[in-house]
Formats: sequence, structure tokens, C-alpha cells
Amino acid sequence: MSDSVSLKPLSRDPSRYKDVFLNAFCKIARKDLEYEEICRHFDRTVMKQLTRFFSNEDQCNVLGVGVGEGREECHFVKNLGAYFTSVCNVAIDPNEDMLTIYKKSITALNSGNASSSLSSSSSSSPVVFHGFSGSLAQFVSDSPLAEYKYNLISSIHSIYYIGDLETTFTQLTSMLKDKGMMLIVCNKDNCILPRTFSEKTYLPTVVEERRSSNVVRAFAEKQGYDVITCRVPMDWDITDVFDEQSDFGNKLFDFFTQTAYFRHTAPAKLVDDLLSFWRSISVLDKNGRILVPADEEILIISK
Ligand SMILES: C[S@@+](CC[C@H](N)C(=O)[O-])C[C@H]1O[C@@H](n2cnc3c(N)ncnc32)[C@H](O)[C@@H]1O
Repeated sequence: MSDSVSLKPLSRDPSRYKDVFLNAFCKIARKDLEYEEICRHFDRTVMKQLTRFFSNEDQCNVLGVGVGEGREECHFVKNLGAYFTSVCNVAIDPNEDMLTIYKKSITALNSGNASSSLSSSSSSSPVVFHGFSGSLAQFVSDSPLAEYKYNLISSIHSIYYIGDLETTFTQLTSMLKDKGMMLIVCNKDNCILPRTFSEKTYLPTVVEERRSSNVVRAFAEKQGYDVITCRVPMDWDITDVFDEQSDFGNKLFDFFTQTAYFRHTAPAKLVDDLLSFWRSISVLDKNGRILVPADEEILIISK
């Protein structure tokens, strides 16, 4: 099905993006399960290697790309601060509102550390924070912080948005210290998002939601990197997408198409086409809820 309709990419409407992401997508995306899994693999594998190869007197530089609210990144810097005497955290996100939420978490972390060091309970080093409100490409071309070398670089569900994989991977690895690590989280190819974007080519192409973990892993391995893969099986409850009266469902529709106000701006036949596609890849649970596969993988990359 091809159509010369003009659809507005969600990323070009930052306030709609924030509303859709935080108030709809995050509610069905099993973020707590994801957080626990990412933190568990970080503690078990990434911390182990970073504390083995780097002295605690080194400055630990941490780069977060597309941090959003940055819950996981906050965990990373907190735990790194328990080992390293100094931690510098650079966070990139073109969505200024999301970056502000993350910055507040780091400020809260630092004030928690300051009060626990006064009461002599366990504390971690204060985090020196630099936020960059822009894309990875702008960061690389405009920021002196792109000259730093980082012990850890993370990209959690942001690699779809960052341009071609070869350029992105080269930019990220060029900022990595020797023995540094990258933690990249992305959807597996059975997930609704890569499947939708592979199949429905009329959707906006400013995002590469087709870029599944398999593609990223294969690319990294071809460049000579070791990749540890941790699978996080998941499904999402997308029942509300099928209720056209539901504001919540319409926001989910926007996220799954990466288009602002899809249901009200796209031709009805595209709406129907997507609904029947999503129905075809879903299952009904015992309560009549519609569940769709949404597995993801944590890729821990090092040389
Ligand atoms: C799906 S959200 C993920 C947010 C967060 N990491 C999480 O997992 O909850 C993708 C994030 O990538 C950011 N982003 C979009 N384009 C980007 C780019 N070119 N460079 C860096 N970040 C980008 C978005 O603003 C958004 O906050």
C-alpha cells in the first residue's frame, strides 16, 4: 500500500513526544521489568569489567545517548560513584524536557550523596553533570565534550533515531576508552516496532525502528567487538489501540507509528491497515486483553 500522505514524525513535535512517551507508552512498556533487567546485567557484567580494568582513582566518564528520563543511567552513575572517586556524566537528548527530568534525578542523587556522607552512611562520589540538548551528530560536531574518552557509553532505545548505523557506531566507538564498554538496548526483531516499520513502508523514515538488536549485534561483531547478549522477553498490552475513543490508545498509536496524531491525520485505510496488521501479530490473554510480542535485548559491547 503506498500513499503520498504527509505524516508528521513524532520527533518533530517534542511536546507530543513527551506526552505520548511518558503518559502512554511507558505505562504499557513494562519499564520496571526492563529497569531491573538492565541494572542486573549492568551490575553483574559491566561493573565487573570496569572495576577490573580501571583504577578507582581514574576519573570515570559516562556518556548517555538519548537518555530520556534516564532511570537506568542514574543507576549506572550511582554505582560507578561507589567505586570511582570521580564521575563525570554527559547526557545527550534533543528533547529538552526529557533532559530536564534526567538532570533533576542527578541533582537529587547528588544531594542524597551529600546528606549520606554527612551521616556517614554509604555514599558515592558526586556526579559532575553536563547535559547536551541536541542530537548525537550535533554533539559530535559542536561539543568539546566529544573530545573526551568515556569508560561507559549507553544508548537505551535511542539507536533507532540516530542516523545510519555505520556513522553512529564509528562516532560512539571513537569516544570509548581502551577497555571501555558500551551498553545498547534495542528491540528484538519479533517486537511490534521493528515488524511494523519493516512492513509498513509508508510510515515516516526519520526513525529506523527496523533497526533490531540482531542488526546492531551483527554490525558490532563485524567491526571486531565482543558482544554479550541478554534477552528480555516481554509483551505489551495494546488493547486500547483498538478503541478509537481512547485518548490513551491514540497516544499508543502515535508511538507505534512514530507519527504525531496518526489516527486523526492519516487516511482511514492506513489506520485500518495497521490495526489489522497488529491484530494479526497479537494474542488474546485469558482476560480478553490483546498482547503483542515486544522482546528486547541488552547488548554489552567491548573489545
Ligand atoms: C524511546 S526514547 C528512550 C528514552 C530512554 N532512554 C528510555 O529508554 O526510556 C528515545 C530517546 O532518544 C532521543 N533521541 C532522538 N533522536 C536522537 C538523536 N539523534 N540523538 C540522541 N538522542 C536522540 C529522544 O529524544 C528520546 O528521549
